[in-house]
Amino acid sequence: MRIDILTVVPELLTSPLHESILKRAQEKGLVEIVVHNLHDYAHDRRKTTDDYPFGGEAGMVMKCEPVFELVEKLQSERRYDEIIYTSPDGARYDQHEANRLSTLENIIILCGHYKGIDHRIREHLVTREISIGDYVLTGGELAACIIADSVVRIIPGAIGDEASALTDSFQDNLLAPPVYTRPAEFRGWRVPDVLLSGNFAEIAKWQDEQAYERTKRLRPDLLNE
Ligand code: ADE
Repeated sequence: MRIDILTVVPELLTSPLHESILKRAQEKGLVEIVVHNLHDYAHDRRKTTDDYPFGGEAGMVMKCEPVFELVEKLQSERRYDEIIYTSPDGARYDQHEANRLSTLENIIILCGHYKGIDHRIREHLVTREISIGDYVLTGGELAACIIADSVVRIIPGAIGDEASALTDSFQDNLLAPPVYTRPAEFRGWRVPDVLLSGNFAEIAKWQDEQAYERTKRLRPDLLNE
C-alpha cells in the first residue's frame, strides 16, 4: 500500500509516521508513506499556497493550483483509489472505514489548513471527506496521522502478533476485555483467577463476557449499530 500525504506543514508529520509500528511497517515494505510539501508546488517567489477568500470573510483559503498540480502529477504515476480530505465536515472516521482503507492500494490524504480549501478542490478532486471527531483542529495533519496509523497497523504483518489487531476494541463493535501482566498480585489487587487457570475455553468465555459487559456499560451505542 502507498499513502501520499499532502500538507503545508510537513514538519508536523515527520515523527508520528516514522516511529514504532509505522516505521517497521515501512521498513518491511508493507507500506510506503510519502509526505509532500505543497509549498514546493507554488511558483511565486513567496511560495504562496493560500489567499484571501472571495466574499471578504476572515481567514485564508488554500489555493487550487498547488493542490491540482501535485495531485495530477501523482495520478500520472499511479492510480489512486481514494483522495481523502481531512475536515470537520467529513464523514465520522471509525474502525470500519480504517478496515476499508487498509484494503486499498494507493490513497492520497490532503490536509486542510487555514479556513479551508477552495471548494473546487472538494468538488473536482476529493473523493472522500473524513472527520476524526466533532471538534476543530488547527489543521488536518494530526487527523492524517490518525488515519495513517489506524490503517497501517491492521495491514497483515504490521503488528508482530497477527491476532492482536483482530481482537482490538471496535473490530467486532465490542470494547476489548481487560488485560493484565505479571505480577499476579500487586498491592493486594489480584488478577482474576480465571486468567491464571490455564483453561483456555474458560478464559475465552470470560473475555467475551467482559467485552460485552464493558461495552454495555461504557459504550451502549455500539451494541445498537
Ligand atoms: N481538521 C480540522 N478539524 C478536523 C477534524 N475534526 N477532523 C479532521 N480534520 C480536521
